[in-house]
Amino acid sequence: MLGVRHPLIQAGMVWCTGAELAVAVGRAGGLGTLGAGSMYPDELIHEIQKVKAVWGGPFAVNVPLLYPAVEEHMATIVRERVPVVFTSAGSPRKWTQYLKESGAVVIHVVSSAVFARKAVDAGVDAVVAEGFEAGGHNGREETTTLCLVPEVVDAVDVPVIAAGGLHDARSLLAALALGASGVQMGSRFVMTRENPAHAAFKRRIAEAQAGETRLMLKDVTPVRLLRGEEGGFFDQVAAAEERGDDVNALRSLLGRGRAKQGMRMGDLKEGELEIGQVSALLNDLPGAGELVERIVSEYRAFGTQGMSPGFDWEGLHAPQ
Ligand SMILES: Cc1cc2nc3c(=O)[nH]c(=O)nc-3n(C[C@H](O)[C@H](O)[C@H](O)COP(=O)(O)O)c2cc1C
Repeated sequence: MLGVRHPLIQAGMVWCTGAELAVAVGRAGGLGTLGAGSMYPDELIHEIQKVKAVWGGPFAVNVPLLYPAVEEHMATIVRERVPVVFTSAGSPRKWTQYLKESGAVVIHVVSSAVFARKAVDAGVDAVVAEGFEAGGHNGREETTTLCLVPEVVDAVDVPVIAAGGLHDARSLLAALALGASGVQMGSRFVMTRENPAHAAFKRRIAEAQAGETRLMLKDVTPVRLLRGEEGGFFDQVAAAEERGDDVNALRSLLGRGRAKQGMRMGDLKEGELEIGQVSALLNDLPGAGELVERIVSEYRAFGTQGMSPGFDWEGLHAPQ
């Protein structure tokens, strides 16, 4: 469906994607994604054209539907004939048919079987089932990937892509065993050389210990954050939530621009640091292509051909 050699997707992520990363993943046989959620309309056009100038294979754009530039982004996606589109954080009803008419494969990110069924009713080609462990914005249900993936697999008849807490060959094997057709990894790809995230953010991730991320701001938009410097944004949100501050107070504490400040500009105190629980396991910084190759070769070394029903590694060939 995606035209890729490996069922491995580099996730769309605000402030943490770009053409260089998407092309490196694509060349290694995975699917690279541009995260449009943090891009101005001109920037998205520029990044798509940069990808297309050097890479003739499949790539994707991720559009969180709650962002202001959605209409412009969708027009760009259709005009530029982007082959795969991930939508998230909103109803897939409005845009799915429009995107599909342009020939795009449309995939919606869900956090429950109920949302998965709604996405299928809206006509999506596949869904990403993203569990509680994941970095970035998250569902309110708090369902972990291990519980969510089989529930969604049983609920819908389109391919399910597992996401949340997945970072290596073991997690790929586990996701396929749960019935997923592929995996989407976000946090793992923040920790790659081509990722445009700030070096200070990457260093902080390398040092992160288990328990240092938390799903916060559930009353505003739930997001998994990594603890930054003492007394900084993370501690302020934790204190505000403990006091029971209302939504307006939390919104004004969040303010604007903190995600860029943290992840792109490296302000570990006042910035917002979005990363998944799996950050506790990430402490190297490979090239993105090398990472894809490593995961695939380690997967093959399991010698598990036949363990994942419906998935035939050797039978897959890139169409291009
Ligand atoms: C820094 C960061 C930013 C993210 N931004 C987006 C986004 O803009 N749109 C989206 O659908 N998901 C976003 N996500 C979620 C990812 O697409 C992906 O589903 C998630 O990272 C998977 O979990 P993992 O981090 O455990 O691999 C983001 C995740 C991270 C870590």
